[in-house]
Amino acid sequence: MNVLLLGFGSVGRAFCNLLKEQEFSLKELLPAGVEVKVVGIGTKTRGCLFSRDGLPLKQILDFESKTGKLTGMDSLYAYPYDSESLVSEGDYDLLVECTTSSMSSRGGVARLIKIALDRGKTVVTCNSAVVYNHYFELKELSEQKGASFIFDSAVIAGVPLFSFMKHCLPCAKVVSCYGVINGTSNYVLEMMEEGSTLDEAIMEAVRKGCAEKDPLLDIEGTDSAVKASIIAQVLMGASFHALEEISIEGIRNVTPEMFRKAKKEGARVKLVAKIQKVLGSVQISVRPEVVPSDNPVSRLRGASKGVIMTTDIAGEVYLASDGFGPRQVGYGLLRDVLEYISGKIKT
Ligand SMILES: NC(=O)c1ccc[n+]([C@@H]2O[C@H](COP(=O)([O-])OP(=O)(O)OC[C@H]3O[C@@H](n4cnc5c(N)ncnc54)[C@H](OP(=O)(O)O)[C@@H]3O)[C@@H](O)[C@H]2O)c1
Repeated sequence: MNVLLLGFGSVGRAFCNLLKEQEFSLKELLPAGVEVKVVGIGTKTRGCLFSRDGLPLKQILDFESKTGKLTGMDSLYAYPYDSESLVSEGDYDLLVECTTSSMSSRGGVARLIKIALDRGKTVVTCNSAVVYNHYFELKELSEQKGASFIFDSAVIAGVPLFSFMKHCLPCAKVVSCYGVINGTSNYVLEMMEEGSTLDEAIMEAVRKGCAEKDPLLDIEGTDSAVKASIIAQVLMGASFHALEEISIEGIRNVTPEMFRKAKKEGARVKLVAKIQKVLGSVQISVRPEVVPSDNPVSRLRGASKGVIMTTDIAGEVYLASDGFGPRQVGYGLLRDVLEYISGKIKT
């Protein structure tokens, strides 16, 4: 399985490190004669590499960590054009996309994904902005072209939510989803509960590597709203919700008084995303709530995320993960690639 990796930032590097680290497990796991081979790497400004026989990942990781770029590597692997021509002309089976997630640049990376799908290439992505803005068109295109569009690590990287619902709870329809889908806000609220100010807690979350590049997206509830909207579109048949149509309140106005009151009741303050079917339409909200102690969401610690999925047949299912950061997302991408290879994910 020849992989073209688009993006070689913290997640792209973590994906490559995992491929190296798990080399022996992968040999045991994959059918005889099948291997996951990275044949191309594309970046925006730091060069591209390509080799039909597979790129030497360790050498590339070492070179990049010393020089901060890919250009200047062994000329055997140099690809003299940009990422777009790599995607549109390169010889590969599967595009693993882990470029910068940007709500403001609608179209940019999504266009490259469309080029890959149009060529019948399967795409695995962790880019929530792309899935949020383009889910329906990318899904339709992948179906037309007999490819797959896979994005389980774009919402809760540690939990393959969509694959779980599809394969483990077939036929069950999601009626509502309730939980924490942004780890940074959970981490920040926990630090505030322990006495830190909002700014101190944000700085610590950034230092710990669990915040988005722009932590305001976490704190103001935008990241949760984007992810809630993806869940609504994919699992609940909702149409696209522009952010202005979603009731969003971040954690900026959570007061020490709110924490004291919650503590007295044995409850905890969480940034809760709620997605519900109400009279045939799907409503989404994100806001801080006092969650009682008998609700598992109240027990989420640190940068954990967790959701209660209420279904029509299978009742309530609780899915949670305490993983965060590039390694977790890189693992999510690898997991999706392996699921695809094993044939579990089809168009
Ligand atoms: N880091 C995390 O903990 C985390 C957690 C959850 C989700 N994610 C998601 O994972 C994705 C990657 O995150 P990251 O932390 O690895 O980002 P990053 O360190 O900023 O790296 C982004 C990479 O994408 C490349 N890129 C950007 N635009 C491109 C384009 N148009 N064509 C080709 N390459 C392009 C960049 O190129 P240059 O090298 O030239 O700049 C860079 O290599 C994002 O969608 C993010 O939201 C990350």
